[in-house]
Amino acid sequence: MDPTNKPKGPSPHYSLYQRRVFHHGGATGQLPTFSVHPEELEDSAKKKLTDRGYLYASSNAGMGWTDRANREAFYRWKIVPRMLIDTNTRDLTTTIFGHKIPAPIMFAPIGINKLYTPLGELVPAKIAGELGLPYCLSTAGSQPIEAVARANDEGASSRNESNDVWSYDGPNGGEAKSPRFYQLYMGHDDEITLSLLHRAWKSGFDVLMLTTDTWQLGWRPTDISIANYTFYYKGTPGNEIGESDPVFMKKYGEDLKKEKGKWIDSHVWHGKAHTWDKVKWLVQKWKEISGGRPFVLKGIQSVEDAIKAHEVGCDGHKSCRATSRRRGRKFGRPSRDCESCSR
Ligand SMILES: Cc1cc2nc3c(=O)[nH]c(=O)nc-3n(C[C@H](O)[C@H](O)[C@H](O)COP(=O)(O)O)c2cc1C
Repeated sequence: MDPTNKPKGPSPHYSLYQRRVFHHGGATGQLPTFSVHPEELEDSAKKKLTDRGYLYASSNAGMGWTDRANREAFYRWKIVPRMLIDTNTRDLTTTIFGHKIPAPIMFAPIGINKLYTPLGELVPAKIAGELGLPYCLSTAGSQPIEAVARANDEGASSRNESNDVWSYDGPNGGEAKSPRFYQLYMGHDDEITLSLLHRAWKSGFDVLMLTTDTWQLGWRPTDISIANYTFYYKGTPGNEIGESDPVFMKKYGEDLKKEKGKWIDSHVWHGKAHTWDKVKWLVQKWKEISGGRPFVLKGIQSVEDAIKAHEVGCDGHKSCRATSRRRGRKFGRPSRDCESCSR
């Protein structure tokens, strides 16, 4: 493909990556350091990672039937393209919560990134900034909220044709240089929840996303077989958001010294369910703190719950239609696959 044949469009020509690889390989004989084939990528990750790292990312709940059902339902969806249409100037740009972004892709919240690199969430947050795509930080992250915001801004400060697309003219606490959202696992100590919300807002995370289905971890046999819960191991990560929280440390800092799981077990995957009334409270608090910025629920699976979410003031919900792995990690037996959710 001759890049000069491509007229400049509103979004970057991401497909030129392929040409760059071929060109570079041909000119220097140097091959890419990783495969872009998903199965080969998975195989090489398995070889390179520790069992803990690999299984944390790949474990499914129960027998893995939800994951399988989701994949099968997804394969049944077909795209039938029309031919001989002028697609030379493509526009992949879209807008999410007032942010104009270069492509309809977002970094989902993934906890404990230090299992994969000592820099943890700083790496994907920086890359998201380089691409101008929204980065969502998990409450189970392994870097302080403020450090992740700085890494995201650092990525955004090297301008290029991807992150140049980003524009936003609403308020966002820390005057972020790139779109970033905060995913909350909500404990039952409201002072800590409010402290997290204030920190996120001040650091420029301007959409709050509450995960509704993981107030306790799913039953993942392959994780259980190797006792894969990093928080109880010496020197292992996962407490950083709690350890950097002044309210948590004032109230529970001493407990944390005695019990490593104090943050994660009491405030993240704590085992005590919330109800819709609490969501109403949270929406109200977030709107007060952020001056009305969006609030989203993550993990909704039924039309009934989506209506309920709307009734309590949510601005959106991320359903299982878009979250195949999510359902697979949490539910062993298909509750709903992505096909039935779309009806
Ligand atoms: C290793 C791993 C860690 C995750 N950690 C979180 C998390 O901390 N918070 C959360 O809300 N979702 C978490 N998720 C769910 C993802 O955010 C996402 O919803 C899910 O992977 C579905 O997207 P996919 O089908 O593109 O994988 C995690 C998923 C994986 C695979």
